[in-house]
Amino acid sequence: MAIENICGPLGWTVIQLQRVMMRRFRNRRAAQIALALLLALTGMNWFGSGEVLAESVAKQIPLTLPPMGWSSWNGFSNTVDSQVIMAQAKAMISTGMAKAGYQYINIDEGWWLGERDADGNIVVDEKAWPALAPGERAGDMANIVRYIHGLGLKAGIYTDAGNDGCSMYPDLGPVYQHTGSEGHYEQDFLQFAKWGFDYVKVDWCGGDKEKLDPAVQYADIARAIFMAETDTGHPLLFSICEWGKNSPWTWAPNVGGAVADIWRTSGDIVAPIVAHHKFSGRLASFPGVLSNFDEGVHPEAQHTGYYNDPDMMVVGMPGLTDAQNRVHMSLWAISGAPLLVGADLTKLSDATLATLANPEVLAVDQDSLGLQGIKVASFGDGLEVWSKALSAPGERALLLLNRSGEAASIKVNLSDLGLADSSLATVRDVWAQKDLGSFNGSYSAAVPALDAVMLIVHGTEGTLTKYAAGGAETGATSGMIVQRNHPVSFTQVASRVPMARVRIAYLNPGKTPRFAELRVNGRTATRIAFPPAGSEQASGAVWIESQLDRSGANNVLSFSTSCDPGPAIVSISVE
Ligand code: GLA
Repeated sequence: MAIENICGPLGWTVIQLQRVMMRRFRNRRAAQIALALLLALTGMNWFGSGEVLAESVAKQIPLTLPPMGWSSWNGFSNTVDSQVIMAQAKAMISTGMAKAGYQYINIDEGWWLGERDADGNIVVDEKAWPALAPGERAGDMANIVRYIHGLGLKAGIYTDAGNDGCSMYPDLGPVYQHTGSEGHYEQDFLQFAKWGFDYVKVDWCGGDKEKLDPAVQYADIARAIFMAETDTGHPLLFSICEWGKNSPWTWAPNVGGAVADIWRTSGDIVAPIVAHHKFSGRLASFPGVLSNFDEGVHPEAQHTGYYNDPDMMVVGMPGLTDAQNRVHMSLWAISGAPLLVGADLTKLSDATLATLANPEVLAVDQDSLGLQGIKVASFGDGLEVWSKALSAPGERALLLLNRSGEAASIKVNLSDLGLADSSLATVRDVWAQKDLGSFNGSYSAAVPALDAVMLIVHGTEGTLTKYAAGGAETGATSGMIVQRNHPVSFTQVASRVPMARVRIAYLNPGKTPRFAELRVNGRTATRIAFPPAGSEQASGAVWIESQLDRSGANNVLSFSTSCDPGPAIVSISVE
C-alpha cells in the first residue's frame, strides 16, 4: 500500500469539504471552483464535469507485482525469534534466493505475547528480540528490521484484526491472549512503520471470534496503515488473512483505499511442521496444495496490483516429492500468486532450490500484467488447460494439469487461448527452459499422472473489439470522467470467450492513483486502481479479466466512483 489520493482513505475529508463548499457557495459551479482552488493548493486534482481529455497512445502502466519472500509460520510456528529470523535472512542471500527475486522476510505469529505498557504500546520479550548491534535496546523490533534491511531485504510483521489473535488457539506452547490490534489500529500500524517494517499480515482469529465484519475492520486497518505511511513516509504492503471465509475477493481489492494489497482465499495448506518439536512428523499433502489452488481462483478480482493469496507455499516441506513441488510452484506461478516460501531456508535441497528459483517460472508469476491464470479447457477426468496472459502480445503461459491417476495426452487449441489459430505459434518448455518448435492450430503434450507440464506459447494475438467511452466512434481519443453520480457505462458489449480480457485505456494526470468500481452485468463490483498515467494527454492502460455473456452483444460494463475524482475512461477493448 502506498500513499494515494483523496479517492480512498481520505476520501471522506474531500466529501466533507465538498459539502461545506456546497453550503457556503449557493451554486454548484461556484462551489466546484472553490474546491478546485483548494485542491490545487493541496496538490490534488479535480476534473470539472463534462471536461474532455485527449488520449495519446495508451501505454501499459506498471503495477505492484505479487510479493516474493519467506514467512516464519510453516517452519517455525510460534518458536520464531531473532536467531531464527537472522539465520533465514542470511540463507536467503547465501542460497541465491534473493538474487532470484525473493525479498521479504516475514515474521508471523509468536513474535509478541500480547503485553502492552500503560500507554498501550506493544511490549516484546527482550530475550527473544535482543539488541543486535552496539547502541541498540533489547526488546526493540527495529533491531531485527535493521538487520534484515542491512542484507538488502525487506521485513514483514504480523498481527490480528481482533482483540485476541490466533495465539488463543496455539499450535505449540501456551495460550496467549490480547495478541491482536483491535482498539489500537492507529497506534500499532504506526509502530510497525516506525520500526521500519515493509509488509504487514493481519489475521482474523480475534475478528472471527468477536463476529466482526471483515470488510469494515480491514478498511479501518487500511486507513490506519495509510496514516502510518503518511506519518513516516514508509510504505507497508497490506496482507489480509481471513481465509476466504467472507469472500474477500468481492471487497478486498483496494479495501479502504489500499494501493497494494493481497488477501488469503483459503485456510492453511498445512499446520506448521517444526523440527524437533511436537508435530514434527506432520506432512504437507498434494491434495491440500491442489485444493488451495482451486479456492484461490478469482480472476475478476486480481488486477492492477491486487492479488488472490492461496497461502504460503509448502514447496520443500516434508510430504511432497520433487515432482509435486514443481507442480505446486507451477500452480502458484500460473496463478500470479504471492510466492512466500514456508520451508526452512537453511535446509533446502538442491532440487527444492532449483524449483523455487527457476527464472522462467518466476517470470510467469511476476509478469507485469498482474493477471491470474484461468482454466480455458478441461477434458474427461481431471485433464485441464490453464492459461495466463502475459505482457508480450501473443504470449501465454500454460499449465497442462493432469489430476488423474493415469498418464495422458493434453491438447491445447490456439483459439482457446484467444490467439489466432491460422498462424504459426512457437512453444517452449518453461521448466527445462527449452524451445520445442512451432505448431499450427493445436499442440499436445504427454503429462504424467498427478503432474503438470508448463509451457510458453507465442502466437498471434486474437482481435480485441474496442468500445470508445460515450459511444463515440471507434478510434475516438477523448475520455469520460467517472464521477460520483455519473458512472461511465459501456452497453452492447460482445465477447468471444466466457472469461474475457479487457484492456481499459484511461487518463489520470494526477500524481496518485485514482479508483473506480467496475460492475459487469449488474454483478458485484470490483474496485480498480488507475495509477498516474502522466500528463493531461497521456493515456495509460490496465488489463482486467471479466466473466462475460457470449450470447450476442449483451454485456453492460459500468464504472462508478463514490468519491471524486475518478479516472477518465477512454475506451475498453474486449476479447
Ligand atoms: C492462521 C493463518 C496462518 C498463520 C497462523 C498463525 O492460521 O492462516 O497463516 O498466520 O494463523 O497462528
